[in-house]
Amino acid sequence: MARRGGSGGVGAFFRLLPGGWFVINGSVSPSAADLLRWYDRHRRTLPWRALPGQSADPYRVWLSEIMLQQTTVTAVIPYFDRFLAAFPDVTALARAPQDRVMTLWAGLGYYARARNLHACAQVVAGRGGRFPDTVEGLLELPGIGTYTAAAIAAIAFGRPVVPVDGNVERVTTRLFALTDPLPAARRAIARQAMTLNDDAPARARPSDFAQALFDLGAGICTPRTPACVLCPWRDACAANRQGIAATLPRRAAKAARPVRHGVHFCLTDAAGGLLLVRRPEKGLLGGMMGLPGPHWRDAPWLPAEALAHAPAAPRLRPQWQKVGQVKHVFTHFTLLVDVYAARVDTFPNSLVGAEGMVHPAGDGAVALPSLMRKCVALAQAAHVFD
Ligand code: ADE
Repeated sequence: MARRGGSGGVGAFFRLLPGGWFVINGSVSPSAADLLRWYDRHRRTLPWRALPGQSADPYRVWLSEIMLQQTTVTAVIPYFDRFLAAFPDVTALARAPQDRVMTLWAGLGYYARARNLHACAQVVAGRGGRFPDTVEGLLELPGIGTYTAAAIAAIAFGRPVVPVDGNVERVTTRLFALTDPLPAARRAIARQAMTLNDDAPARARPSDFAQALFDLGAGICTPRTPACVLCPWRDACAANRQGIAATLPRRAAKAARPVRHGVHFCLTDAAGGLLLVRRPEKGLLGGMMGLPGPHWRDAPWLPAEALAHAPAAPRLRPQWQKVGQVKHVFTHFTLLVDVYAARVDTFPNSLVGAEGMVHPAGDGAVALPSLMRKCVALAQAAHVFD
């Protein structure tokens, strides 16, 4: 069946294909039903995901979405499992001391997220443990932005919205062959992604539709080598037809990431204690435990300058050795840390009182951010403490 149509402009025609697809000017529109059929066969089993026929638990959905910001599914799963074992519901999380939350979060990075997570749990616990069930209501909670509100609203509460994360952005740019580069094109891509909801089957199953888009982006429409032959939208995909899928989305050339410089001191005692300080609440790794050291800065540190910031106390004469440099990439800069290490017999009380605390080496009770763990590992490898 084919007919010429007026609304599509001169020469436009619509043609109904078997399976409900239709053709406009020779191209096939993405069918939500096709994506959902694919999802029903290939969906991933994830610890926060409801099984078919079950309804999603908003606490799990929220927790997973906060953890998944800036982090991969594979990295998140063990953290998610540990959090759920420690805090089975939002009220348990709200009641937990912040230190415990930070300890379980350590290693996931972006520590402001953990503090917001805790603050959000307290707001929700104050509402009797019930999350708001609309995008607008969710947006009022700490740590919840546009993407996360849409994801929770769609997945947990069946609201017909399309959460646009990196996966959905990639799928959308390819589906419609959008060639304007990111990040400037982000809003236009998001607007286009919303149109995926115009197809009725998407609005009938918003939770599955959102997760189907995630799974398509993660498993088929992957960044470098998309598996277009396996894609349920291969015929609808303009980039696939043009042979440019792997080149999208385009990105404007990035300014080089600036380099900053730090110094951290790894001081142990004969009992295997490690001198730690709590970092200031504001700023990177805020509120986490870390090795002592001066503020990170733009210029490299000369050894004499660095050692002027070493932990000091009367009668403490550590033989500092520079054991090497740790490189750590943050979102907005690369940090190069000169690591100095030394061992003393005992930590003077004045040092421990003034500087922070000690913890027995290897004791998992004090969780350190990855950067700090890398510094400790470098010092251990240099055998300064043997
Ligand atoms: N990425 C972001 N949210 C996700 C989810 N709920 N499932 C899988 N991948 C995701």
